Amino acid sequence: MKISKKIEEVLNKQVNAELWSAYMYLSMSAWAENKGFKGFANWMRVQFHEETSHALKILDFILTRSGEVKLEPIAAVKTSWDSLLSMMEETYEHECKVTSLINQCYEVALAEKDYATATMLQWFIEEQIEEEANALEIIDVLKITGEKSGGVFYLDKKLGHRTFSDDTKKE
Ligand code: FEO
Repeated sequence: MKISKKIEEVLNKQVNAELWSAYMYLSMSAWAENKGFKGFANWMRVQFHEETSHALKILDFILTRSGEVKLEPIAAVKTSWDSLLSMMEETYEHECKVTSLINQCYEVALAEKDYATATMLQWFIEEQIEEEANALEIIDVLKITGEKSGGVFYLDKKLGHRTFSDDTKKE
């Protein structure tokens, strides 16, 4: 069954939101790299790839359901942050916002009785739990160590080990 115009509209909006997230994390990655925090830069770059994969998962779903993909402009993102902590706090706040956007999509899917879309969105609902927790974990460590101690260099090293694996392909 083809998706309704309403579902098509909210899913296209979500594709844009995921791509905007990717853009923001790429900007954070570049900022961290310039500041010499290669581990944070790596973590953010993996985040960029994750967001891109999220956008593609929704875009492919629209296509599979014979909907029309409408790619809107991606708004500009910030290019600098006051500190690693403020960057990570912004990451956490942003992920909470994405969670509410996904929840809104889910509500529209239920209201439209589009259970296939609702099922697809369940993957995102679970993913958001992890997205929020990942950012919070780093915030907690930064608050304990401060940004000028050896602890932050240890954290930076640890974040440098993060690699991208496309979880959107997992059921
Ligand atoms: Fe695609 Fe970070 O949510």
